[in-house]
Formats: sequence, structure tokens, C-alpha cells
Amino acid sequence: QPIYLRDYRPPAFLVDHTELEFDLYEEGAQVVSRLKLRRNPDSDNARASLVLDGVELELRSIMIDGVEVDAERYSVEGEHLEVRDVPDEFELETQVWIKPQENTCLEGLYKSSTMFCTQCEAEGFRRITYYIDRPDVMSLFRTTIRADQSLYPVLLSNGNEVEAGVLEDGRHFAVWEDPHRKPCYLFALVAGDLHCQKDVFVTSSGREVELRMYVEHRNANKCDHGLISLKKSMAWDEDVYGREYDLDVFMIVAVDDFNMGAMENKGLNIFNSSCVLAKPETTTDNGYQRIEAIVAHEYFHNWSGNRVTCRDWFQLSLKEGFTVFRDAQFSADMGSDTVKRIEDVTVLRTAQFAEDAGPMSHPVRPASFIEISNFYTLTVYEKGAEVVRMIHTLLGAEKFRQGSDLYFSRFDGQAVTTDDFVACMEEVSGIDLTQFKRWYEQAGTPVIRVTDFYDPDTREYRLTFRQSCPATPQQTEKLPFHIPFAIGLLDASGQDIALPNGATTQVLHLTEPEQSLVFQNIEAQPVPSLLRGFSAPVRLEYNWSLEQLKFLMSHDSDGFNRWDAGQKLAIVVMQNMISDGSRDVPEILIEAYRKVINDTETDQALIAKMLSLPTEQYLIELADEADVQLIHQVREITQEKLGGALREELKACFQRNVQSSEAYAVDALSIAKRTLRNTALQMLLKTGDEEALQWALDQFQAASNMTDQIGALAALVHSPFENDRAQALSSFYDQWQSDNQVVEQWFSLQSGNPKTGHLQAIKALMQHAAFDIRNPNKTRSVIGVFANQNLTCFHAEDGSGYEFLADQVIQLDALNPQIASRLVTPLTRWRKYSEVRQGQMKLALQRIKSGGKLSPDLFEVVSKS
Ligand code: ARG
Ligand code: ZN
Repeated sequence: QPIYLRDYRPPAFLVDHTELEFDLYEEGAQVVSRLKLRRNPDSDNARASLVLDGVELELRSIMIDGVEVDAERYSVEGEHLEVRDVPDEFELETQVWIKPQENTCLEGLYKSSTMFCTQCEAEGFRRITYYIDRPDVMSLFRTTIRADQSLYPVLLSNGNEVEAGVLEDGRHFAVWEDPHRKPCYLFALVAGDLHCQKDVFVTSSGREVELRMYVEHRNANKCDHGLISLKKSMAWDEDVYGREYDLDVFMIVAVDDFNMGAMENKGLNIFNSSCVLAKPETTTDNGYQRIEAIVAHEYFHNWSGNRVTCRDWFQLSLKEGFTVFRDAQFSADMGSDTVKRIEDVTVLRTAQFAEDAGPMSHPVRPASFIEISNFYTLTVYEKGAEVVRMIHTLLGAEKFRQGSDLYFSRFDGQAVTTDDFVACMEEVSGIDLTQFKRWYEQAGTPVIRVTDFYDPDTREYRLTFRQSCPATPQQTEKLPFHIPFAIGLLDASGQDIALPNGATTQVLHLTEPEQSLVFQNIEAQPVPSLLRGFSAPVRLEYNWSLEQLKFLMSHDSDGFNRWDAGQKLAIVVMQNMISDGSRDVPEILIEAYRKVINDTETDQALIAKMLSLPTEQYLIELADEADVQLIHQVREITQEKLGGALREELKACFQRNVQSSEAYAVDALSIAKRTLRNTALQMLLKTGDEEALQWALDQFQAASNMTDQIGALAALVHSPFENDRAQALSSFYDQWQSDNQVVEQWFSLQSGNPKTGHLQAIKALMQHAAFDIRNPNKTRSVIGVFANQNLTCFHAEDGSGYEFLADQVIQLDALNPQIASRLVTPLTRWRKYSEVRQGQMKLALQRIKSGGKLSPDLFEVVSKS
């Protein structure tokens, strides 16, 4: 059942040209395909039959060079069409009938509300027509679409529109031609009644590109931010990577039903509505920033992914890791680089580390898989981006840019591997990355244990590093990694000590299981600032004292480590409370927080981050055996005590950051002010403060933007004020029920909180008129948020949370396997919990497994768990 990287063979046939004709109807669609095929000179089988992929296609005719193929010369078996005794070069024409209206897996051609749309990555194109569905088969595409003119006035595909016109019976057509060769996973088609907002971008070489954003008419006023983000991305990729756009038109389409965030189809990006539509009244600051990042990500794929693509799906991180790295650099440049780094590391350390320690743990370049859809993971994306980031650190910005230039020019128009990428980086820098490449091959999160020793007689300071990596599925023994480890040393006054490289930060190359480094002429015991900027995706162990952490929190010149010291301080405090049963929050944490709140000098965006306690998820991830209820309780108490002890400071912070009636702006300072104000409000409300309650109610009523409105609502939801909470929730729904994106936020807020999201309430939300299990966003915002964020309810003692999730997963698998197999993830984390919980979780998994025929997606996850 699994397929292996080591079995890679070049394709037996190539497709030089692909001509597609779509006839779209209300009962289904007819797809005619004409493929110009020839044998691949690089194939190791010169006599191979032609084998095409196809899933749920009704084959109506098949011709070679215009002649019907005899029935005994071809066969359809499972997901393949085999044609025997074919010439070395020929045209194959097939005609199939498909049913987009009945397609609930949202792969291939499907309907989302009233429009037709596609999602082909990774292997969805085979649900549209018979094809050699693999990324190393690249072809020129010409696409004709015919449909009813009044229902589907807009007909789109990749490239340029070269012809359009009217047909009989109220139908019309359009012909699109894409001048760039591409694998079929980048194909896209859209047909619908859509509003189009236009803009223009002039490239650095002076070409005019028409930008178009297509949305359903009700969303016509939510296009501005997407287009602004797109123009910023286009300019940035020219400035920083020298990459210009290469077509005359670039289109974005928003669809409500979408499995993932968005898709980089050539010249025709398709987005989940929630990842591109925005206006201040309905979209939070987080939403604005997320959209900017995703628009950039998809746009950047035009080079890292489309012009240079992947040879096979084991190389997925070639395009995803690199593109996530690029979008992170972009976001850092658009706002606060420290805050962006904090956000990325938070995801990595909570969710990716957990994935890498679980049953689905896999290398950035997996060696095998059953279903590729299961490998669009945090490891491939986020750890993959960290690997590229480490290369950037090892080479420096200038050499890295030379390496990427070489990569893009050498492999333009080709389908290549992560080794090809690394080879370019080695070539321009002269740095040997042989050992470094283990980051692509070995799964698991390396652990680095640091010890230090200061000798006042010799004035030497010695740091010792020991690295190891836990066993993961299929890989018990790990070889040492090449780890770029950035450090600084602080003197007693909090100043950076000059290091041997002449700077205040130095990147060490850890390559051995154990390594030491001695610093000479150090006046007194320094405080080490370790792993600055989180220079490698590792678990760091060092025996910090609380005083050292508090010191770093206010003095470290590395913003990331200032924040991280605060997190570590809070973690140690809470871990102590968990282990010794005490419920007293030590003065040192309160004092440290007091200092943070009163700090109006430091970047206020960083201050806002520093005010948030580590999440329950992260505390669970750090525990050997997590007691969810205890962790929740201790974190709540810590928050309440901080809120109580710092009441005056928090009130001053709230009032300092109340903005007068200025217009809503999404610049860094305005965002920071809103975050601070809302964080303070939430902390105050948790303590039951009546004055803060009034502030929250006023803000909820008066808010002119969603950040403030939902900020107030969230504060109420987390507060002990039951009646106000219920009233606010229901008036919020009345106000926004016609807006899907807001209703999703409304669902999430309730399902993610134990006060509003106990199992009965979740079941009630699923009965709500606005809920639809076929819509991935709604499913994620109710069921997904419940299982991933509302941890005390999900891990309820009686196992009811697990049983509920199993029921939903089973039901969903029949509709949408990709969503089912993602939703089951929390159950696969059973190793983290007590024996009783483990038993209950495994029982739930068992029930899924024995529940009948599973999709390959769900089967792979469940059987590996
Ligand atoms: N390439 C897309 C992106 O990262 C994601 C598409 C994933 N699709 C899927 N079926 N897994 O931008
Ligand atoms: Zn991507």
C-alpha cells in the first residue's frame, strides 16, 4: 500500500500538449481531453503501455490519432486506464463524464455554493480526466469552457483568455491558453456569477499586469486588502529575490468550500474565503495579517513551486518549506520581525514538535507515504521553512540570494528535488552541507542540553552542548545534526559582552554529539542568551534560575529571547505549582509582569506578546504525562492572580491604549494598541472586575472594527459574568448571521472555551442553522476547535469527548476524507496522557478502524497510531 521515494522512476510518457474542453451542466460535466504524448527518452522502459490515472470518471470514448481504440487494447482497473501497444508519439483523445455536484471531497472539479471550481494539488486532477497525474509531467495547457451564460457569466482558467463568444441555448464559451508548461496539479478552472475587482501592477521591467479578484457579489466590499497584499508581495519578491511576475493577468478567486487555506494555480490562485476576504467591521487584526501572509505565500509560489516545481511528492517541502520561509521573511519586513518570529516559533514548538513526537512523525522529506494529502503537515511546511532558514543563517543573506538566483535560473521550467536546492546553496557558498542534509532525512526534534561553568581564577567561561534526537517511527538511531546555534553573553549590568567574532551574537556550528566552547577574559559569571532568534528547531535544555530568566526578560538585546525568557519563567512557575500542589503565584512572576505592563518604551507589539501566558497546549507538549484538568486549573489561577495583583497597572494599560475615534488602521502600532487593550481587558474581566465589565460592554456595543468587538466578546466569554456573556453572544449572532466569516469566528469562540463549549453545547452548535458539516470551515470552527483548544472538555473524564470526535470522524470520512483525517489528529496523541485516558483514546481509534471501509487518508493515520 505505501509508496517509497527509493522507487522513483522517470515517467514512461511525456505530455507535450494538453487540450481540454469542459461542458458544464447542472447534472454534471463532460470533459474532452486531447493529449500529445510521446515516449520519455529518459524512461527505463521503452515498451511500456500507457497508464493514466483516473478516479470516479465515466469513460465515454477513447481515440488514438482520431481512431476509436479497440476494446481489447485498453482496460480500466481501479484508478488506472491502461492502453497497450501505443506508438512512440501520438494523440490520445478521451471523453469522460463527471459529477461536480456530487463531489463532497472538494478535490478535482466541484461546486462551492453556486460556482464551479477546482482543487488539483496533490492528486485531484485525476478526478477531472484521465492523465499522467504526477508533477514531473509538465505540459502546455489550452482550456475551453462552455456553460450557461446567465448562471456562469465568468469562465476562468490558467494563463490568458484567447477567445470567447456566445453559443446557442443561452450558453457561452471562453478559451484560455497558458504559455508556461506546468504539471496538472497547477491546473484550475472557475465558472460562476462573480464580482470582479481590478487593479494594476507595473513590474520592475515596466510590464503592466492586470490584477483581478473574483468574489461572490455579497463580498464585493471585501476585496481591498487582498489586492493591496498582492501588490506588496509582487514588489517584495522583485526587491528581495529578483523575481518578476510572468503573465499579463493575475487572478484570485474566493470560494467558501475549501479544504485548505489557498492554492497557487498558475495565474489563477484559489482561496478559502476566510483566507482572503476582509473588511474592518468583520475581520480582526489577526485576520488581516493572516491574509497578507497567505496572499504572499501563494504569490511567491509562482517561482518557488510553479516555475521550478517538485519532481515527486516526497519533495513537497522543496516548494512549501522554501515558500513558507519566503512568506515569513515578507511578513517580518511588513511588520515586527520579532513578533513574526514569536508567532512562528509558537506554532512550531506547540504543534510541530507534538507532530514530530507522535505516530505520524516523518522527515521533512518523507521516505514513504500511503496518501500524500496526509503529508501537507507542519513538518513539511514549518519545519521545512526552519531548515531553509538555517541554510540562510549558515550562508548569510548575500550568499543565500546568490544560491536562490542560481536555483531559479538553473531549474527554470523543471521538476526537481530538495537535493538540487541544497546543491545550489553549496555551490555558491563553498560550504559543505552534507551533514546538514540530515535535517531533510531524519525525523524527530533534536534536544540540546547546555551546561556552563565559570572559573573566576582563569576568567574562562565554558559552554558545553550535548545533542540527541529521540527515536521516531522507522528511525531508531539518529546521527548528529549540523545545528546553527546563536548565542550571546550578558554581563551583570545586562550589556552584551563582545564575542570572539567581534559581534554580540555568534552562531556556533554544533555538529558533534558533545561539544564545548571556552570564552576567555570574561570578567564575571555571565548570563547566557541561548539559541537567539530560535536559530534552530530544537528543544533547548538549560538549568535556568528564575532570577536569570527575569533578568533576560528585561535585558536581552535579542527580542525573541526576551519574550522567551518570560515564557520560560511562567512555565517554571506553573510547572512548580502543578508538581507541588501550591496555588500561590510567586512574587517574581508578578513583578516581572508588572515591569512588562508598565514598559511603554519597548515595541508595544512585543509587550503585548509578553503579556500572554504560555498556552495549555504548550504546557501539555512540555509535560511527560499531561494532566489536562490540572494544567487548565493552574493556568487559570495564575491568570486570575496576575490580574488581581496587577489590577491598577492593567487598567492604566487599557486606558492608555484606548484609541479615540481615529479611523481603523492596520499599521503595527495601532494593532499593538488594540492587542494590549484587549489583553488587559480579558485579564481584568477574568477577575470579575465590575468596572472592566462595563468597559467591555461599552466596547462591544461601540466597536467599529471586529478586533475590538470580538476582543470585548472574548473577554466576556472568558469572564464569570454568565448573563452578559450569553446576551453578548446572541446579539453578536443577530448582528452578523449573514456573514459566513464572522459566523465562523462566533462558532470558534464558543467551541474553544469550557464555559461555552461543553459537549452538549457543541452538539447544539452542530444543530444550529448556520452549521454545515460539508463546509470545512464550519466543521473546523466547531469540531476542530473543540478538540484542539477546549482541552478540559475534550478530555472529559468519562471519555465522551473522544467518543464524540470518533463519531464525527467516521461520518466525515464518507464525505471528505482529507478533513476526516485531519480532524482525528488529537486522538493520535494518546501517548501524552494517563493510562485511563490512553485506554479511552485508543478505544475511540479502534472503533474508527473497525467501522467499515476507510478512506486511504484516514486509514493511514489511524493504522499508524
Ligand atoms: N499548495 C497549497 C499551499 O500550500 C496547499 C494545497 C494543499 N492541498 C491539499 N489537497 N493538500 O499553498
Ligand atoms: Zn504552499
